[in-house]
Amino acid sequence: MAIVSVFSLTGCKTTTTETTATETETTVAETTAEIAAGSVGIVLPTKDEPRWIQDETRFKDALAAAGYEVEILFSEASSAKEKENVEALITKGIQVLIICPQDSTAAAAAAEAARDAGVKVVSYDRLITDTDAVDYYVTFDSIAVGAAQGQYLVDKATGTGNPLYLYAGAATDNNAFLFFEGGWNVLQPKIADGTFVIKNSSEAVALQDKATLTRDEMGTIIGQITTNWDFDDAKSLAEANLTVAKAADKGDVFILAPNDGTARAIADAFAADSDVTSYVVTGQDAEIASVQYIIDGKQSMTVLKDVRTLVSDAISAAIAYLEGKTPEQTNTYNNGVIDVPAKPSAVIAVDKSNVKAAIIDSGYWEASEFTGLE
Ligand code: BGC
Repeated sequence: MAIVSVFSLTGCKTTTTETTATETETTVAETTAEIAAGSVGIVLPTKDEPRWIQDETRFKDALAAAGYEVEILFSEASSAKEKENVEALITKGIQVLIICPQDSTAAAAAAEAARDAGVKVVSYDRLITDTDAVDYYVTFDSIAVGAAQGQYLVDKATGTGNPLYLYAGAATDNNAFLFFEGGWNVLQPKIADGTFVIKNSSEAVALQDKATLTRDEMGTIIGQITTNWDFDDAKSLAEANLTVAKAADKGDVFILAPNDGTARAIADAFAADSDVTSYVVTGQDAEIASVQYIIDGKQSMTVLKDVRTLVSDAISAAIAYLEGKTPEQTNTYNNGVIDVPAKPSAVIAVDKSNVKAAIIDSGYWEASEFTGLE
């Protein structure tokens, strides 16, 4: 594993943590250019989720280490606020916008405003859809995230008839579709062969013989099992599902939960149901609270998406644009209008068995954040 956070810029080189055995040092940006103060702006969706606070912190660490002044604005989970933020940054004269959209489609208007002002638009983690005004996409391999979640459930299941509860992210987030697609690819054959029985989605049951779903079909299922990326919604939906389910639909259950925040909410709801004997529940983001849940046996797994890598890639892309170059492309993602050049990063499945190596030894979080680590 190579977790990398090295900036080599104008003679100023900063290395942040890398301690794994197979250490590989990669320089993410070899350049003589600087990010001039005010030339890059960053817009993140919400402070209500630890995931995006984490991105802010990791950006600040990397930018401070390199001596850059970059403004980071939050959209307060509102597309209108997001557009205001983008317009404010355009007025201040940014040349590159790094933006994680609150709503994939609604953000097209903000991206177009930036494009019209001659600003390069880097879609960060979530793809902005339905517009050609996106220059680049830095992301994790989101299909691999969903596949890792699905595979974890498959690996833990024995016999047939295992109750399966499906949950998804917000339908306004393109990633929610990619995570679900990755999970479905792995789970569907195991639903078809009887290993799992879907308990909380009639729409998913209606489509359970289809190995590959169209976007509309996924949308129909997601509409029924969405958490809206909201902890309270996730908890209410899980409780509603458990209220309707019979005792025979519970017992030892398997839960596809899309991310850590919703996983904790859903896990708490299942843990509180006396007809649930045991549960296996997925997650993603390696949030501190969920890593603690994994150590405590309350969440089964998470998917580590090393935000340091994403931040490095976003800053490298910004520098490339400021130098009049094109950032490194390894892939494209279709956003409904164009194939957006992209660089997806690998992800790592983490459970109790590798939590120390993947999370602590890699320098991702300090051991002092946790109790009960062996
Ligand atoms: C991100 C996840 C995050 C979720 C909710 C997704 O687009 O990729 O890391 O947990 O949004 O904010």
